[in-house]
Amino acid sequence: MTTMSAPAIAPGGTDAAHQHEQSEVKALLQRIGDGWIKRAKVRRDAVDLAFDPARPDFLEELLPFHAHPLYQRLAPELKSKILSAGWIIYNEKTVAIESAIVSPSCYDALDGRIPGLTDETSRQIVCETLVDEAYHLLLVANANRLTRAQRGLEDLKIPGFNLVTMMNREKAVQSEDWQKILVHLATSVVSEIFVSDYLHQLSDCTEIQPMNMATVAAHRHDELAHSKIFTLMTKTFYPALSPREQAFFASVLPKPIEWFADLELDIWSSVLEQLRVPGAATIVADCRPLNAAARERLDYTGIVGLSHEVGILSTDAGRNSFTAMGIAI
Ligand SMILES: [Fe+2]
Ligand SMILES: [Fe+2]
Repeated sequence: MTTMSAPAIAPGGTDAAHQHEQSEVKALLQRIGDGWIKRAKVRRDAVDLAFDPARPDFLEELLPFHAHPLYQRLAPELKSKILSAGWIIYNEKTVAIESAIVSPSCYDALDGRIPGLTDETSRQIVCETLVDEAYHLLLVANANRLTRAQRGLEDLKIPGFNLVTMMNREKAVQSEDWQKILVHLATSVVSEIFVSDYLHQLSDCTEIQPMNMATVAAHRHDELAHSKIFTLMTKTFYPALSPREQAFFASVLPKPIEWFADLELDIWSSVLEQLRVPGAATIVADCRPLNAAARERLDYTGIVGLSHEVGILSTDAGRNSFTAMGIAI
């Protein structure tokens, strides 16, 4: 992708229809970009960080092992610590998405490494997205610092996320820079489409710590826009890729669905050991089979719909990559 490719004609469309569709996508992106000044949470009131020690920090149902008998038998104080750790992990996953996944793709766009995203509208919206993500890092850092201090978890270490490790592994097996950029970009698109659903798990959950709900709700407010932005940007960059690049992107796109769904049990293994949870190894080992079906917990209809719209699923590479992963198209 060091050379710019000639724009492809939209699947099944004429050149004029493609031009019309592209100008509509650009106009929509411009509207979203111009609305940022009023919409973005960084421009609004700060989240109230009042802490209520009596409230749980996290939702028990979101722990991958919440139904395990060894977990259920634990003392309430230890369960409460595990919930706080769950909240910290949940936040750190958003940090990983923002700093290791989305922001580098934004810089790839700004540096002209992604065809179709070099125009001024794209630059504006990418810059706004970077500001949003930087603000989310601050939101999450504030929430985690407070939780760690209030719950005595200052020394808890959170290892790296499989979501990032698996993306980096996929990049490492590719020989060309353009392939690595597209693997990263596919991971960003999938993550940004999924992250608002991920945040919705807590954004209106009134039974947890109010500060936590408010933090997640503020974050989700921005991510609802990001999900639209990354969908529209895919409609902009995919037609600008060469046929070879399009085929490669199509072959990679469904993979991050699995990476995002990963239950991150290696992190839990480390955290439960650090919290000296009795039976930690058994609890985690018994949950490993759940990871195989983790993808089914995600609603990936948005990714499949987008793939139909841009024509990925009209190609052999696209159909094969989705069906090879057992994703209904
Ligand atoms: Fe974010
Ligand atoms: Fe985002």
